[in-house]
Amino acid sequence: MDMGIRDKVTIITGASLGIGKSVAQIFAQEGAKLAICARSGEVLASLAEELREQHGCTVLPVAADLSTQAGVDECITRTLEHFGHIDILVNNAGAIRAGGLLDKPDADWQEDWQLKMFGYIRMMRGVFPELEKQGGGRIVNIIGNGGRMPSAGYLAGAGANAGLMAITKGVAEQGAPLNILVNAVNPGPVHTPRWDGMVAAVAKQRNADAKVVEDAMVASIPLRRPGEPEEVSSVALFLASRHASYITGEIIQVDGGAANCL
Ligand SMILES: NC(=O)c1ccc[n+]([C@@H]2O[C@H](COP(=O)([O-])OP(=O)(O)OC[C@H]3O[C@@H](n4cnc5c(N)ncnc54)[C@H](OP(=O)(O)O)[C@@H]3O)[C@@H](O)[C@H]2O)c1
Repeated sequence: MDMGIRDKVTIITGASLGIGKSVAQIFAQEGAKLAICARSGEVLASLAEELREQHGCTVLPVAADLSTQAGVDECITRTLEHFGHIDILVNNAGAIRAGGLLDKPDADWQEDWQLKMFGYIRMMRGVFPELEKQGGGRIVNIIGNGGRMPSAGYLAGAGANAGLMAITKGVAEQGAPLNILVNAVNPGPVHTPRWDGMVAAVAKQRNADAKVVEDAMVASIPLRRPGEPEEVSSVALFLASRHASYITGEIIQVDGGAANCL
């Protein structure tokens, strides 16, 4: 099935690992032109090489810290210098740490939100006029089901994710007359370095064995397993594709049925 993204210039943030890497792989397979962004230039360079070899696509690695406005500017400017325009943005770089009301200091909230909240907003703000110049485009925000399923132990994630769901819908309203479609994916637990790190952090917090903690987390998911990165990236691809031409402001759960709400 032709997804209609061949040669579309696509920025993917947090593309060096986990879900973002899987998005880069599946978009490369479909022939998109990629700007892949994360902090580690070495990891990005080796992924770019791998994608060029496997798919013959054009890949621009951009090492930048997206928790700063300067990093966001670097990512967008370098993409425009290299490709001349932008068609698609996949906002994915996020790393909110566990913690609750009484044990997470302001500095941690601010640091986490600089990337997951402001990084997404700044990337959308920077890319939006470029999509408008193209006569339209797509934005896909990878958020997380903590917004629909807030929990005491992941409070900053709950707040950022709920905020980003609302912001996705608001930006979708603004983009619709310009043919800029804005949607989101809410993953539940997905097997990535981040998931492994979160399981380890919760295990440490509870002074429990990591395997026991992971089993308990998975037991509460109707499908009884964490997702795989490809199960999230395939939905991001769909939302960026020509098959999602009448969908905007939508937030799709990819969580094995975990969010038991409408
Ligand atoms: N995995 C899950 O279970 C899960 C569940 C719900 C939602 N999510 C969301 O899905 C997204 C991806 O998660 P993941 O599990 O794939 O994460 P991951 O495995 O930790 O990968 C995170 C990516 O973001 C990059 N990154 C981190 N800090 C950055 C910064 N300041 N500037 C630019 N890039 C940065 C990392 O590369 P560098 O370190 O080199 O910068 C890496 O490429 C996140 O927004 C996360 O909240 C994940």
